[in-house]
Amino acid sequence: MTINENKTVLVTGASSGLGSQFCRALSKDGYKVVAAARRLEKLRELCADINKHGGEAVPLELDVTDFESYSLAIDAAEAQVGMVHCLVNNAGSSISKKATEMTVKDFDFIMDLNLKAPYFLSTELARRWIANGVKGRIVNVGSVSDRKAMPGHTVYGTSKAAIARLSQQLAREWVNQGINVNTLAPGYIKTDLNEKYFDSPAGLDVINKLMPRKRIGTSEVLDKAIVYLCSPDQEYLTGQTLALEDGQTL
Ligand SMILES: NC(=O)c1ccc[n+]([C@@H]2O[C@H](COP(=O)([O-])OP(=O)(O)OC[C@H]3O[C@@H](n4cnc5c(N)ncnc54)[C@H](OP(=O)(O)O)[C@@H]3O)[C@@H](O)[C@H]2O)c1
Repeated sequence: MTINENKTVLVTGASSGLGSQFCRALSKDGYKVVAAARRLEKLRELCADINKHGGEAVPLELDVTDFESYSLAIDAAEAQVGMVHCLVNNAGSSISKKATEMTVKDFDFIMDLNLKAPYFLSTELARRWIANGVKGRIVNVGSVSDRKAMPGHTVYGTSKAAIARLSQQLAREWVNQGINVNTLAPGYIKTDLNEKYFDSPAGLDVINKLMPRKRIGTSEVLDKAIVYLCSPDQEYLTGQTLALEDGQTL
């Protein structure tokens, strides 16, 4: 692997699950990686491992719901690795509750993390790219919950449908600046977010009854897709959603 000066990526939610694996896959593809999340110790472990294997990764302590902190945080990251050319908005979560039990605080928690943060991080970077003529790439991590309604996850599903739409809107706004914005919408993948559930009898039952291939993937199944969507050579795809879901919604 050769590290490419023009391939620097900022991945949010990099301290676990899909985000950690995105960092590893992009590092293997020659990216300098800025791994961002709140749990700095986890990020340090990830970056040490990537660097041990010949990559270049730096941790960035960032709470993406601290919207006013982005500018300084990106400045700090860029002081270490140079200009960021690609953003993966991956940090996200859900609160599982019936719609009738969801509070305003719950609603804001999900929307701030899954929608408002990607919006303002994207615009923060796009301003820099437009000023410097950089043809940046943004990948928003959505979910097949954007099309499959799941009881208990009404706000989450709504946030993921909204982020797919956000990708379209931003893609259109920046289409003539060469900035591509796409959504990667995974099906169920076993991560910290859901591992306990899918290892439980109820979770195993769901896998056997509702997953057509009676399996759920691990985060490595997204490696090729994230590399493709981030690639500066990928010029023609923008505003689209790539759903990697193993037939789970068919
Ligand atoms: N796993 C699946 O089946 C699946 C399917 C479809 C879509 N997704 C989506 O994939 C993304 C990653 O999910 P995952 O399964 O990998 O979950 P995960 O293992 O729980 O990881 C979530 C990540 O988000 C970070 N995060 C949470 N709140 C944050 C905040 N305020 N500021 C910065 N980072 C924050 C967490 O880091 P810290 O706690 O260190 O901040 C963590 O690294 C999410 O957007 C999720 O909706 C997952």
